[in-house]
Amino acid sequence: MTEQDFAVPLEAPRYYEPDPSYRERSWIGDYRAAYQKYLEDPGEFWRTRAAEIEWFEPFDRIMDWDFPYAKWFLSGKLNITHNCLDRHVRDGRANKVAVFWRGEEGEEKVYTYSQLLRAVCRFANALKKIGVRKGDRVCIYMPVVPEQIVAMLACARIGAVHSVVFGGFGVGALNQRIRDSGSKVVVTADVSMRRGKAIQLKSIVEEAVVNAPSVEAVVVLRRDRPKVELHSEMELDFDELMENEPAVCEPEVMDAEDPLFLLYTSGTTGTPKGIIHTCGGYAVGTQYTTKYVLDLKEDDVYWCTADPGWITGHSYVVYGPLLNGSTVFVTETTPDYPDPGIWWKIIQNYGITVFYTAPTAIRMFMRVGEQWSDRYDLSSLRILASVGEPLNPEAFEWFYRHIGKDRCPIVDTWWQTETGMHMITTMVGEPMRPGFAGRPIPGVVVDVVDRDGNPVEPGNGGYLVLLEPWPAMLRTVYKNDERYRKYWTTINRVYTATDLAVKGHDGNIMVIGRADDLIIVAGHNIGTAEVESALVSHDAVAEAAVIGIPDPVKGNQIKAFVILIEGHAGSDRLKADLRYHVRMTVGPIAMPSEIEFVDSLPKTRSGKIMRRVLRAKELGMDLGDVSTLED
Ligand code: WT7
Repeated sequence: MTEQDFAVPLEAPRYYEPDPSYRERSWIGDYRAAYQKYLEDPGEFWRTRAAEIEWFEPFDRIMDWDFPYAKWFLSGKLNITHNCLDRHVRDGRANKVAVFWRGEEGEEKVYTYSQLLRAVCRFANALKKIGVRKGDRVCIYMPVVPEQIVAMLACARIGAVHSVVFGGFGVGALNQRIRDSGSKVVVTADVSMRRGKAIQLKSIVEEAVVNAPSVEAVVVLRRDRPKVELHSEMELDFDELMENEPAVCEPEVMDAEDPLFLLYTSGTTGTPKGIIHTCGGYAVGTQYTTKYVLDLKEDDVYWCTADPGWITGHSYVVYGPLLNGSTVFVTETTPDYPDPGIWWKIIQNYGITVFYTAPTAIRMFMRVGEQWSDRYDLSSLRILASVGEPLNPEAFEWFYRHIGKDRCPIVDTWWQTETGMHMITTMVGEPMRPGFAGRPIPGVVVDVVDRDGNPVEPGNGGYLVLLEPWPAMLRTVYKNDERYRKYWTTINRVYTATDLAVKGHDGNIMVIGRADDLIIVAGHNIGTAEVESALVSHDAVAEAAVIGIPDPVKGNQIKAFVILIEGHAGSDRLKADLRYHVRMTVGPIAMPSEIEFVDSLPKTRSGKIMRRVLRAKELGMDLGDVSTLED
C-alpha cells in the first residue's frame, strides 16, 4: 500500500497555508523548532510542561519505564480540580465564565469559575456524606448538563474514580459497566432531552442496577416537573443532597499515579475495556495539548461538540479547557434540531471562537447544504478542529470554505481513548494537507511500520505506532492487564494503535482507519475509509460504507453501502458511474463489486460506521454485542 494506492498525488500535494499571523500568535510558534527541542531533551520538555500546573508536592522523577508500564511525575502530589478551579479563582478568573450551557429549547445556565468551584465542593461533600471515599468508583450516567461536569469534578476532588457512561447507552451496556467497575454510587438524571423528547434515563438505571450489588445509592438530578418520584431505599435527590453541604471542600491530595478515572471503550472482542487514566500524567497531557493544539487564548469562547461521556469530552470539554482557565460552551443538542442551522446560530450568538467537532457531523452538514450555515455570521471563528475518524479531503474542503470562510486553520487531531490526549495533528499555523492528520506533536514519537515493526519507506502504508511513552497514556485496562499488554506486544515492543496509516513523503501522516477495517483484495490492502472517501467525493453521494466480503479468487471483494444526496435516484446507471469513479480516484483494485443504496448506516453513538455490523448482516452472522449502536 503506497501513497499512490490512496489516490494521493506524490508530486505537488495541495497545501492550505494559514495566514502567517496564526503562527506568530500561536502558543507553539515554530513547530519544527519546538519538536527539535523536545527531541534534544525529552525530560526537560516534560518538566517544563508539568510546571504549567500546580503541584502540592513536587515530583522527584519525570518518568520510570518498566516495559510496558510507565509511571510519570513520580511522588508528585496534586489534585486536578485545584488546577481546574481553585487556582483560577485565586488568580483573577473568579468571575470569568467557566461553563455556558444551553438546552435544546434555548434555556441557559452559566457558571463562573467561583460558582463552579462552589458547586463542585458541595457535591464533593455530598458524595462523602453518602460514603464515597478515595479510590471508590462512581458511575456517572447523565445527559449533557452542567451537573455532569460538576459530578465528574466532585469525584476528582475527593479522589473517587469516575466512570462516565455515555447517556445514550442502554440497560445492558450500563449494567455491564457498573458491574465491571464495581461502582458504589450511580449519578444520573430523570431525563435527557433529544429532539424535543424526554428520554427516561432513570428507568434505564433502575433496570441496570439490578444484579449490580456494588451499588449503594443512586443520585438523581430531577429536571422534569412535576418531579419524578424517588424510591427511598436507594435513590437520593441531587439538589437536596448538595444544598445543605458547605461550599468548601479541601481537595484530596492525590499521588500523580493514583487513578483519576476509568472510561470504557469498545474493543475488537465486543466486551468493553475499562481504560485507566491517572491524575498527574493526564493533567499535564491535557493541559498541554488543549493549550498548544487548540491554541486557546484567554478570551476564547470554546465549543467542543463531544459529549463528556466520551474521551473527547473528558479531555477537551472538561479537564483540558478548565485546566487552562478557558470559557467552555456545552449544549445538550443534536445538530439538526430544531433545524440544521442550530449549530451555526449558536456560533453566531455565543461568539464561538474555537470550534471542535467530528467528520461525521461535517458530512451531515455537507449533505443538507451550506444554505444553513450561510444564514449566520460565523466571523467570530478563529480555529476549527476535527476528531474521531479521518477527515476526508471533501469534508476538509467544505469545512474550510463554508465554516472557516477560507480563513481558519483546521486542526485534525488524531488520538484515542487510550492515549488520553492529542498525538498527531497539524499545529495551528502549519501548512495543512487535506486527508492528512499531520505530524506528531512535540512530546510524541510516531511511526508507520510493517507487521514486524520495520518502518515503512515514505510514501507507503502500514501500522501506526507510538514509540515513546507519554504522560496521558493509559496505565492499564481495569481488571484486565493482559489486554493492556497487548497494546505493547502486538508489534515489537511499541504501542500499536490498531490504525493503518500512510507516511507521506513530506512527513505528514494520513490515518486511514482501523486495522480491523482493512480489506485485502487480491493481495492489496484497501482502507475502507479511502474507498468511502472516493465514493463521497461523487456528486450524488452523501455517505458511504464499504466492507469486505469473501471471494474465492481474490480473498475479498468490496461491497459498498451508499446513501445518496437528496434528489438523486439509485439506478444501475449510477452504480456503474460510482464504480468508475472509484476506479478513477482510488484505482481498479478498490472498485466495489457490489453497491447497495441504503437510507441509513449502522453507527456507533460517536458516529463511527460499524462496518462489523454490515459485514455480519451481509454474511448472515450473529451480531454479537452491538450496545454501542445508534441505528
Ligand atoms: C480511533 C479512536 C480520540 C477521540 C475520539 C475517538 C479514530 C480518532 C482520528 C483522526 C483519523 C481518527 C482512530 C482511532 N480516530 N481521531 N483525527 N483521524 N482517525 O476515540 O473511540 O478511542 O477511537 O478513532 O481510528 O484509533 P476512540
